[in-house]
Amino acid sequence: MTEQIDSDGRLRHFLTTEGVPGELLTRILDTAESFTGVIGKSVKKVPLLRGRTVINLFFESSTRTRTTFELAAKRLSADVLNVNVATTTTKGESLLDMLRNLEAMQADMFVVRHNESGAAAYVADHVGEEVAVLNAGDGRHAHPTQAMLDAFTIRRHKGAFEPLRVAIVGDVLHSRVARSQIHALNGLGAGEVRVIAPRTLLPRDIEGLGVHVHHDLASGLKDVDVVIMLRLQRERMEGALLPSETEYYQHYGLSEERLATAKPDAIVMHPGPINRGVEIDSAVADGPRSVILEQVTNGIAVRMAVMSMVLGSRAQASVEEA
Ligand code: NCD
Repeated sequence: MTEQIDSDGRLRHFLTTEGVPGELLTRILDTAESFTGVIGKSVKKVPLLRGRTVINLFFESSTRTRTTFELAAKRLSADVLNVNVATTTTKGESLLDMLRNLEAMQADMFVVRHNESGAAAYVADHVGEEVAVLNAGDGRHAHPTQAMLDAFTIRRHKGAFEPLRVAIVGDVLHSRVARSQIHALNGLGAGEVRVIAPRTLLPRDIEGLGVHVHHDLASGLKDVDVVIMLRLQRERMEGALLPSETEYYQHYGLSEERLATAKPDAIVMHPGPINRGVEIDSAVADGPRSVILEQVTNGIAVRMAVMSMVLGSRAQASVEEA
């Protein structure tokens, strides 16, 4: 198995937030912070990855994630290629064959999204030494850059992680985002991570990840600083896990009224795409406490940080040195 962290403690690939030391997670956030200035400038580019080739390899559809990875690579001056492999059956030999061909085009980095858990690690195991792999979401397993952009957004609003109570609400069972968030938040030292969901939408081993479990939304939201809503991932559900969307909304949908038990300055997050009226009411999604669109913007800086850290681990990545 390919290690994502090398013997000097540097990030070689980014496949999961699980087991990543808090110090390295913090370094990703600090590096992202240094890039926010670049994004705000009228000339939005730094030459850190000039001459490098990044290939976005998406086996599953995506808008936010793919485009922000693409923008991040472009702002680092890399050449970017988007390969949309709109199929769910490509695996084994055919995936390997495709990799060999793309490697032959001298790619330096693959950004991989796939509907099977473990796909990004599989790619990392099969590429050459010099190629870096970033996981842009694999099955229900992990979505590490999403978790880091969420952590970045939380830190910008709330400062230190230690005093914070964070609630993750909804379809945790099918959510790679939730898993990566739990590992990242615990790694960064968040005071308390809660999950709030019906039993049918929680994995059996969830407590083992270091979270407090709630089944009631009102009591689960009590005194939290951050509320992260998850999309109901219908496309991943087998059988009837839920009575109906209307009933789901009645119990787990975030309305302004429900949000009242959280702290008065609590922020509301969602990785997108949002289902209005299913997991979140429009008044909350578009309301003053929502930071949902900031998450999207922050995705660029965080992805720039991760890209520059994995490819630039040889030449220290910071805007100042560019
Ligand atoms: C998430 C994903 O694809 O895992 N979206 C995203 O990356 N912004 C979550 C989801 O699809 O609900």
